[in-house]
Amino acid sequence: MRCVCVTPNASVDTTYRVDHLARGSSARVLERISVPGGKGNNVARILRALGHDVVASGFAAGGAGEFVERELWELGVAPAFVRIPGESRTCLAIIENEARVATELLEPGPRVTEEAAAALVERVAGLADDADAVVLSGSLPTDAPADLYARLIHAVRATGVFVVLDTSGSALVEGMQGGPDLVKPNWDELTALAGLADPDLHNGVSFVQDRLLQGPLSADASVLLSLGKDGAVLIDADGAIHLPAPAAAPVNPVGAGDAMLAGYLDAWSRGESGEAALTWASAVAGASTRQPVAGRVDPLDIEHLMRTTGAAVPLDSDLSTNRGHT
Ligand SMILES: Nc1ncnc2c1ncn2[C@@H]1O[C@H](COP(=O)(O)OP(=O)(O)OP(=O)(O)O)[C@@H](O)[C@H]1O
Ligand SMILES: [Mg+2]
Repeated sequence: MRCVCVTPNASVDTTYRVDHLARGSSARVLERISVPGGKGNNVARILRALGHDVVASGFAAGGAGEFVERELWELGVAPAFVRIPGESRTCLAIIENEARVATELLEPGPRVTEEAAAALVERVAGLADDADAVVLSGSLPTDAPADLYARLIHAVRATGVFVVLDTSGSALVEGMQGGPDLVKPNWDELTALAGLADPDLHNGVSFVQDRLLQGPLSADASVLLSLGKDGAVLIDADGAIHLPAPAAAPVNPVGAGDAMLAGYLDAWSRGESGEAALTWASAVAGASTRQPVAGRVDPLDIEHLMRTTGAAVPLDSDLSTNRGHT
């Protein structure tokens, strides 16, 4: 499969490991890791690890943008970003060994003008021409037009290519107006969208079926709702199936949703759907939780989790055990 992964708010994700950090004092760094970040870049790295032909796009600015492009290139992902002035984000995580806590500093990212937004739509539409799928992932830079994802989806759908959206808040609300083929909210993203007074799995799934799959999404679209350690639900017009999370003994769940999306697309590219695609996606997601940084999987972990994952259950008979999930 050839897949275009779009990350409008690409970043350099830098992790510092220290023994202990106290405000106002200095700490010796034990280890420093920098990887090209942003959710679409995580999906790109996993798809590449699964053997696919991957192009990464979005906005890249300054030295941080150059780092993202260079590192992706070295991993075998072809960078095709729109270069803009300013500096791409650096997202800094400081992990303290003793307290086992992480502190994050997140930069706002570069300014995105209307001209830059239009250039990205044109670039992605061009890249979609010889692709099988396009993934649009993550937050939008603060002043990017709120309908940027909808515009990208319109442009991609005009080429007939499968398009996936994974974002939150107003970018998700507005993006869905473009009619993506697959959406991957987690529980918090779905409940924020649904605005239900007393959300549980039952009314959450009903919301997807009654309010999303009958417009703005098309009737043949799917929603992959991930529930962290409680597994995932695949919802389409035919119904909903729930799969428990694999017993992965996670070390770092950040980016598990991105891995799940990559795994689902990998299965989709082999013609799989329904339970088979969901099971593979969840094994890939589980494998990613075993890695210290997002965007990585060990194929041996995927194989192991495929052998140990339980069966999917149609949601009607499953609801009683999940009611009240938050
Ligand atoms: N603690 C865990 N144990 C086992 N599997 C997990 C765990 N956390 C996540 N997973 C697997 O990963 C999938 C996606 O996780 P989650 O719902 O946390 O995604 P997300 O919130 O979109 O994450 P992100 O946005 O950081 O990528 C889950 O459906 C599950 O299969
Ligand atoms: Mg997510």
